[in-house]
Amino acid sequence: MSQKLVDNFNRNIDYIRVSVTDRCDLRCNYCMPEKHTQFAEPDSWLTFDELTRVIRLFSEMGTYRIRLTGGEPLVRKNLPDLVERLNQLPKIKDLSLSTNAIQLKKFATPLKQAGISRLNVSLDTLDAEKFKAITKGKLQKVLDGLAAAKEAGFNPIKLNMVVMAETQMDDVFSMVQYCQDNDFTLRLIETMPLGSTGQTAFQKKILSFSDIKQQLASRFPFIPGTMPGGGPARYIQLTESQTRIGFITPISQHFCETCNRVRLSAEGTIYTCLGQEHNYPLRPLIRSNASDEQLKEAIQTAINLKPEKHEFNEKPLKLTRIMSKTGG
Ligand code: 5AD
Ligand code: SF4
Repeated sequence: MSQKLVDNFNRNIDYIRVSVTDRCDLRCNYCMPEKHTQFAEPDSWLTFDELTRVIRLFSEMGTYRIRLTGGEPLVRKNLPDLVERLNQLPKIKDLSLSTNAIQLKKFATPLKQAGISRLNVSLDTLDAEKFKAITKGKLQKVLDGLAAAKEAGFNPIKLNMVVMAETQMDDVFSMVQYCQDNDFTLRLIETMPLGSTGQTAFQKKILSFSDIKQQLASRFPFIPGTMPGGGPARYIQLTESQTRIGFITPISQHFCETCNRVRLSAEGTIYTCLGQEHNYPLRPLIRSNASDEQLKEAIQTAINLKPEKHEFNEKPLKLTRIMSKTGG
């Protein structure tokens, strides 16, 4: 009998997103304040030994899909070593990574060899100046990183594009064309009011997903589509290619009733919902020689804290935590 980790709303928690650092080599204006200094101290980050142990315990309880996130996960030294260790855990069936791709050119092959199978890359625009204005970084590095990832054989590669006030239909068209040319999957994500940065971005008007679909139809005909993996995105499929486009709508149509995940921060705190504060710090237990059984009890206690849903629409100013603390 395989174990299942179930919350109070009968949701099966089979997926954990693990932030390996809250630092980042970009400063996306909707995410990290430009002069952000409140980073976790490195000695509070779970070590690779501690991370491997916690993830093993989760996997023994029924959580078998892992995604490494940040901040920017590639900022953490020797990340492929961690991947290699996680890949050896017998109950882990799916190991993926979310990155901004700034350092991916160097890391694509080592990550693939260490056992990352699926890759999500954040990319909001293909316009270099706009990219710089949004992120403070260099677009070319991301494009080089993506080319290296394709070369290394990652499949699928998904591009996550946050739709924000700066996003125009031309950005969407260029991104769709780029995904079609490179065999990438595109996902459009509504801006969420996380922290002051996210809240400022959230208050601005953005293109609605129904407008985007309507305008897409004239240039890129599509039919409803699917994508293996069962995340919250709803997909369309272009009819003139195999390209899929997913729409992730935490704001206009939330999907909390099917939520299957929790997040672990770099400091070892379980966050049970992206849009709520309900959390449970595991690090004090881990660092006071708790047994596996005690930690598993703590994990179940944390899962029981998982709230029914976020309240981004009802209480948009509620969440002071920024995205980079817990990963997306
Ligand atoms: N709303 C939506 N997406 C966000 N991200 C960061 N902050 C926000 C926000 N406020 C995205 C990043 C990346 C992922 C980790 O989360 O662009 O794709
Ligand atoms: Fe860094 Fe991602 Fe936040 Fe941008 S969205 S600042 S890449 S953590």
